[in-house]
This record gives sequence, structure tokens and C-alpha cells, in this order.
Amino acid sequence: MKREIDRVGVFTSGGDAPGMNACIRAVVRTGVYYRKDIVGIMQGYQGMIDGAFEDLKARSVGNIVHRGGTMLKSARCDAFRTAEGRAKAYENLKERKIDALIAIGGNGTFTGLHLLHEEYGIPVIGIPGTIDNDLYGTDYTIGYDTATNTVVKAVDQIRDTAASHGRLFFVEVMGRDSGFIALGTGLAVGAEAVCIPERHTSTDDLVRLLDRNWRSSKSFSLVIVAEAGESGRTIKIAEEVSRRLEYYDTKVTILGHLQRGGSPTCMDRVLASRLGVAAIEGILDGKTDVMAGVLNNKISYTPLIEAIGKGQFIDEDLIRISNILSI
Ligand code: F6P
Repeated sequence: MKREIDRVGVFTSGGDAPGMNACIRAVVRTGVYYRKDIVGIMQGYQGMIDGAFEDLKARSVGNIVHRGGTMLKSARCDAFRTAEGRAKAYENLKERKIDALIAIGGNGTFTGLHLLHEEYGIPVIGIPGTIDNDLYGTDYTIGYDTATNTVVKAVDQIRDTAASHGRLFFVEVMGRDSGFIALGTGLAVGAEAVCIPERHTSTDDLVRLLDRNWRSSKSFSLVIVAEAGESGRTIKIAEEVSRRLEYYDTKVTILGHLQRGGSPTCMDRVLASRLGVAAIEGILDGKTDVMAGVLNNKISYTPLIEAIGKGQFIDEDLIRISNILSI
């Protein structure tokens, strides 16, 4: 049943992603366009519990479309995992007369959003904003394109020095427990090997491949390693490989949080703008408990529970292509 909606709360939560600001701008301006009040909730679920709300107007979101980070700030909030935390948050929402919510974030954000909807019946829509690209129901998440371009730029620079010294470089990228950033960038930088959690690569496999490369006169090598839920794991892998292939001069670079910042690419700004509009139009149209995404370049709405639960599938063909091109 369609509910009358007058005031919509918007917030960002979990790891920030480039393009979140462009998305906030789109949500606010689309809300204003449809004559609705938009309230910004600071620091995600933490701000909802603390009552940190701010009315947002069309001009509140000027000059942010190109900025990384999130003007609404972000946080990972343990208190919201408890029933008491969510009760407090809902009380604050009621007090501010917020009758619908739009959340920009990833897995954890959507889990909280789904619970709030289930427990209190408030209409909610999620927008995929994470560099990890690990959500089912959208071809891309906001921030993935910028993050992968950042990685490519960094690895291109590493390539220069790797080539000059004839070294073997292991570069660790983010992605939590998914390998999208690693696979996409591995292909783009021409890596010799890509290690992703979706496909086990043993040290034996790596040693065999790098040894073959050495014998076929490859003068330097790049290996992209997904953090796979354990930031820093690449050091152990590199140590093991270097112990067994002593002729390589081996180095490790962990790119870390630099992948999360920076001005969003054109693709991310366009995606963020489309999804911001889709979220407001969806919620005013009576949609709830769904994620607004883009599938085959068309806006689509996927139940939150599926977006979180099903996970995004690695494109097997990218692995095949990557293997062919790294000989
Ligand atoms: O989900 C985005 C992400 O950057 C992951 O790729 C990474 O594992 C995690 O967040 C890092 O989280 P934090 O910034 O809290 O250390």
C-alpha cells in the first residue's frame, strides 16, 4: 500500500565511497523537485541514535558533485546492531517526523535498513555505495569505478619502478571478502597473476607461474592480491614466494585507504545521480525494502535481502581473459 511521504531522511553508512556526495546531491534535489522535505542524518546509524539531523535544501548540496568522501560523514555503528539501539533510532526518526529513509552504503548498511523496516514498518530504499562492488542487483556500485581507476594509476607507477629494477611486485588491493577490485584492475594493469578469494590460488600455483615467466625472459612481474578479509595477508604470500624463488627481488605494496578517496570519475557521478533520482522516485511510488541499482544499464529495484544475501558473481570470463593475456 502506498503511504503519503513528506519527509525523507538520507544518510551514508559504512566505508565511504567516491560518488556518495553526488548521490546525496541527487537525493536532495530530486526530493526538493517533488516538494518533499529532506533531512540529512549525520554519521549514519550513529547519528540516527544520537539525533544528529540536519535539514537539507537544494543549495545545501551545492559544490559537492565532484568531491570524494561524504558530506554526511560515515561510521560503522555497533549500537545499531542491538534492538535497543534501533528502538532509540526509530524514536528519533518519529520525533523529527521522518517517514521514509534512503541509505547509501553496502552490505552492513542494508542489513540495518532491512531490520528497521521489518521492526518498525518505515519505508526504506538502499543505494549501493561501496568501492567493493559486491552487491547483487546492480552491475556496479557507486565508488567502484573511481577506486579501480585509482588502483590502475598507482600500479602503473609501480610498473615503472618494477620494470627499471626487474622486480617482482605484489600489490594488495581492498574489496573486503570479494575480488572485484583485484580482478578488474589486474586485467587493466596487465598483471601476471591475480589472487582473489572466489578462486583459490595456492602458493604452488604462483611459484609455478612466476618461475615459468622468469624462464620465458619476463623481466619483471606484477601480482595483484585481493585483501580477502585480511588486510596485510599479501606480506605472507610474498614472503613464501620469495623464499622459494630466490632469484626474484620481491617487493610488497599495500594500497589501503587511498583507494577510498579522491574525486569521483564521470561514471561514478552519473551512476550516483541516476540512483539518487531512482531512490526518491521509487520511494514516492510506494517501493520499499529494496535497493535501487542498475542492471544492463536500466534502473532496477532488488529486495534488500537479495542484494545482501546473494552476493555479486565474479565474471569467469574475466579470469579466463586475464590468464590468456598474462603469458
Ligand atoms: O567496504 C569498503 C572497504 O574499503 C573494504 O574494501 C575494506 O575491507 C574495508 O572497507 C575497510 O574498512 P575500514 O575503513 O573500516 O578499515
